[in-house]
Amino acid sequence: MTKRTIRPAKGKLGILLPGMGAVSSTFIAGVELIRRGLAEPKGSLTQLQRIRLGKRYENRNPLIKELVPLAELKDLRFGGWDIFEDSMWEACNKAGVLRESQIAPIRKELEAIRPMPAVFDQSYVKNLAPRQVKKWTNRMDLAQQLMRDIERFKKESGADRLVMIWCGSTETSMETAAAHESIEALEKAMKDDSRDIPPSMVYAYAAIKSGIPYANGAPNLSADIPALVDLADEAGTPISGKDFKTGQTMMKTVLAPALKARMLGLRGWYSTNILGNRDGEVLDDPGSFRTKEKSKMSVLDACLESDKYAHLYGDYFHKVRIDYYPPRGDEKEGWDNIDIAGWLDMPMQIKINFLCRDSILAAPLVLDLALFLDLAGRANLKGIQEWLSFYFKSPQARPDLKPEHDLFVQHMKLTNTLRILMGEEVIDHSGLDYYDLERGAATPAPAPKPYAGKRRKAGVK
Ligand SMILES: NC(=O)c1ccc[n+]([C@@H]2O[C@H](COP(=O)([O-])OP(=O)(O)OC[C@H]3O[C@@H](n4cnc5c(N)ncnc54)[C@H](O)[C@@H]3O)[C@@H](O)[C@H]2O)c1
Repeated sequence: MTKRTIRPAKGKLGILLPGMGAVSSTFIAGVELIRRGLAEPKGSLTQLQRIRLGKRYENRNPLIKELVPLAELKDLRFGGWDIFEDSMWEACNKAGVLRESQIAPIRKELEAIRPMPAVFDQSYVKNLAPRQVKKWTNRMDLAQQLMRDIERFKKESGADRLVMIWCGSTETSMETAAAHESIEALEKAMKDDSRDIPPSMVYAYAAIKSGIPYANGAPNLSADIPALVDLADEAGTPISGKDFKTGQTMMKTVLAPALKARMLGLRGWYSTNILGNRDGEVLDDPGSFRTKEKSKMSVLDACLESDKYAHLYGDYFHKVRIDYYPPRGDEKEGWDNIDIAGWLDMPMQIKINFLCRDSILAAPLVLDLALFLDLAGRANLKGIQEWLSFYFKSPQARPDLKPEHDLFVQHMKLTNTLRILMGEEVIDHSGLDYYDLERGAATPAPAPKPYAGKRRKAGVK
């Protein structure tokens, strides 16, 4: 397999964050602490995970960051926009995810990062009252203002390359409209200041049009419309989304594939959460909650393939609740009650009680997405990056393809994509290549220390 041409990760990478609240500030503070050796990047594949290459007996397991050329943490620079003017120091302290004593060593760096005024319209996020918002004549004018912000940030930060990760609030639920169908229709609607174009779409347009890889950490429509997918292809920009897959949904996409793999039936899955941060407050509005609900609900049917297994999964009850409960802050608690059915239709139950920290789970995803999207850009990958589905509740996919939700299939997609980029053998995990002489692949390459016992049994000399 030929290695793909990938431009080196030379110079600085600027990470632009529309929405600089709990997730963004926890992400930035984390990177600042980690690069000083004061914290560990737990939860990040780009920093910690190893990837197997070649045959199992070759024992080649480099770190992902040793295999693919990723930007280094020391080369990252941060910028973004918010409707609040809080520096990242203030945002961290307001979000209350990290203790003040934890971030004291990086206070100066956090204070220096202040959000630029936002593209915002309260009718899309009812529960937030803005403090700094751009004035506009129409949505195209707003996109142009963002592009000027981006240019200024690039110059001031000395960034050579940029990526944009939406970490802003969840907007009210929207359906695709005629204005989203083509680039021309979208640009016309923006000039006409159409309400079909929510703020997150304006940011996505500005990024994609400028050739800046874009990821969407919220369930907003944003770049998940034909016009912006076309624009990404045309501009050669990688895009991915939607909605970070962090706590309860991550567990769902682990457990539901397990039930299906064992052909255990499902009668009901009741999920509820209490959450007390600003995100929880935003989701207290029915419009924003509906967007999140759609995203959280979609995973089960897809994992269980209800259409193919009607007798097992055709008629289960699925409910998702999120209750805003201020005392918990960012320390979300989720409960799942799962009613399953086994042999002879006998009922059984599974309970999950996940006491998580929302932004602690999300921050490493922002880092990985930023580094992988930058890699994608340098490898000339464009349009939807399906291999990054691993990070999302509602993975973006070509309209004629069902998105993949199973966390481990998603992980395989990601690791095999990295192997392909680097000209390494794709691993299908069948294992036949070790045993099936008929297949012709069983002949081992000179193996350092083959496991003699099993290999002899299989008839390999
Ligand atoms: N934390 C998680 O585990 C997780 C998981 C999946 C998705 N998400 C999503 O990630 C996003 C960020 O989560 P958070 O906990 O940081 O929320 P947050 O409320 O703390 O931060 C979001 C920030 O976005 C700002 N904002 C809203 N609209 C904006 C706009 N148009 N332009 C610029 N800024 C804007 C808000 O003022 C706020 O400061 C939310 O949409 C959330 O639903 C979070």
